[in-house]
Amino acid sequence: MLGFLLSAYQLPQASNFAAEVDRIFIFIYWFSIVCFVIIVGAVVIWTHRYGRRKRPEQLTPYIEGHTPTEIGVSVFLFVVTMVMFAWGWKEYSHMRTPPANALQINVIASKWKWKFQYTNGHVQERQLVLPAGQPIRLNMTSDDVIHSFFVPNFRVKQDVLPKMYTTLWFIPTLTGEHDIFCAEYCGTGHSAMLGKVVVMEPAAYETWQRQWELQQAADLMTAAQAVAAGAPAPVGLSSLAEQGKTLFAAKGCIACHSVDGNPGTGPTLKGIFGREEEFIDGSKLVVDENYIRESLNEPNKRIVKGFVPMMPTFQGQLSSEEMNALMAYLQALK
Ligand code: CUA
Repeated sequence: MLGFLLSAYQLPQASNFAAEVDRIFIFIYWFSIVCFVIIVGAVVIWTHRYGRRKRPEQLTPYIEGHTPTEIGVSVFLFVVTMVMFAWGWKEYSHMRTPPANALQINVIASKWKWKFQYTNGHVQERQLVLPAGQPIRLNMTSDDVIHSFFVPNFRVKQDVLPKMYTTLWFIPTLTGEHDIFCAEYCGTGHSAMLGKVVVMEPAAYETWQRQWELQQAADLMTAAQAVAAGAPAPVGLSSLAEQGKTLFAAKGCIACHSVDGNPGTGPTLKGIFGREEEFIDGSKLVVDENYIRESLNEPNKRIVKGFVPMMPTFQGQLSSEEMNALMAYLQALK
């Protein structure tokens, strides 16, 4: 009985957040039930007790309010709602602040599938493989409409939006398979926009990634033999940051932005992530994925102090995968 009362959804607690989210939920849930029973009970009892009598001489006496009770109830309810707020806010803040050592994985949502892009270049559809016990930061964006990444066993859910990045972090604690749902109605295929998180022991996860890398190397060798026999050269089987570096040159970014700290026509991109930029209007901002994305799409929206607006827009010229690769390259420019 107690187990039933204390486990919110009878779902496994598979992340570092699950137990605390459940505790807050259970507290609010049972407090609401107790209040409901008391209020409805009082209404029923007093309706019966002070209801209109059959004979008119049995008039119900006029009842004055009771100030201490009114103040007491108000203060009590105020304190309890503040406890709910403070407790919820504390855990919410915890859930919004990814640790610096988190393993970053990009999530690209589209109608109607989830795509996962690892920093080694590995791309998986519908299946997110993770090492247990390691903080994970998901950097998420959508290719079309609003989706929402929801893993009930982890008690995490976050909208995934077009034209911007949202993030989610957690530590998977339970090995095995956990369902991924889309929690935002996104069209006829919404209910089938499913996936699995597969949580492995860290050693098994490493083996899984190495096997993929070995397979890529083997494919490259096969391709190289084919090239020697006259076939076209294979396309990049390289890490995300390497793909980004190639793009950085191919798209001409390198013409204006140095990567060694020297100013060019535009600001240097060495150490760009996490740097505080000051703009010509005096505003400041700490550089993150959303700012880089904005700079690519609307380069003249914010001009860094000391520079002039002359960067062309890259709106519509980069896929989500390519933009993530550029981000990975820029993050590596420490
Ligand atoms: Cu994607 Cu609903």
